[in-house]
Amino acid sequence: MSGFFRFKGEFMANGNLKLAIQKKGRLSDDSLRLLRTCGLEIESYNERLLVTTRNYKLDILFLRDDDIPVYVQDNVADLGIVGENVILEKEADVIISKTLGFGKCRLRIGIPEEDTLENIESLQNKTIATSYPVILRKFLDEKRIKAKIIQISGSVEIAPSLGIADYICDLVSTGATLKLNHLKKSFPILDSEAVLIQNKFLEDNPEKKLLFENLLTRIESVLNAKNSKYIMMNAPQDSVEEITNILPSLKSPTVLSLAEKSMVAIHAVIPQDQFWEINSDLKKAGASGILLLPIENMVL
Ligand code: PRP
Ligand code: ZN
Repeated sequence: MSGFFRFKGEFMANGNLKLAIQKKGRLSDDSLRLLRTCGLEIESYNERLLVTTRNYKLDILFLRDDDIPVYVQDNVADLGIVGENVILEKEADVIISKTLGFGKCRLRIGIPEEDTLENIESLQNKTIATSYPVILRKFLDEKRIKAKIIQISGSVEIAPSLGIADYICDLVSTGATLKLNHLKKSFPILDSEAVLIQNKFLEDNPEKKLLFENLLTRIESVLNAKNSKYIMMNAPQDSVEEITNILPSLKSPTVLSLAEKSMVAIHAVIPQDQFWEINSDLKKAGASGILLLPIENMVL
């Protein structure tokens, strides 16, 4: 009997929030990392399907990503972390509560290395193997292309070399899987990334709703922090105004006095992608000893 069903009675009744994440795949490590950065102490899971969090009323279910939307829709889990692509494919009735900024990938047509596809029309009358028949069918219908779709649940990349399909339609992230199977990428069908989903029943459960809102605040603070950096520098007292104008900081920077009277220290939080743009301007304005530090959490 699987671990999940052995625990079932106790699991469903303990009042903990249930979050489903991918057991093994592109999203697994980043999903766990996000939860741990939120301060959750998650037991090591090895081969277990259900793991509890030591310091929060949260149980984590490890599932195949394809099963997550329906488990959430049917209230086996309250929440899930899964690719948007899987939600669209399963046409699941769930609410997207947050886009998570990781697991970015594209659903694409993949073709044998030696082939070329001139345009979308070239898919006419071809056979395409995929685990995403719903999304692919919609796409082909919109373009008025008739092609045969063969539904395969895993290892789709092998279909062309087995001679069962001309092309494939699968997720491409780094492209390593395509390459390994002597395929190359062709037309994009859909862009996707990881999202946090919730079911419609959560609204009616005040205790779980509170647990969820608290968890969401933590997740948002981690996501905010990821895009921000803490900058520190020393500067002459009389260039504070100029430096303040250069800094794209969310709030007014902190200015601290130093032992050397003519100098001050300036601290601020800035969007990390702007650091290199302002770095030389800061130096020109007299800033020295510029330090950029990571922020773990940022509650706005
Ligand atoms: C997807 C896809 C490929 C792989 C592509 O798998 O099916 O196998 O990612 O990534 P790459 O371009 O970086 O090599 P997913 O994580 O969705 O797992 P699953 O197909 O087993 O559900
Ligand atoms: Zn999958």
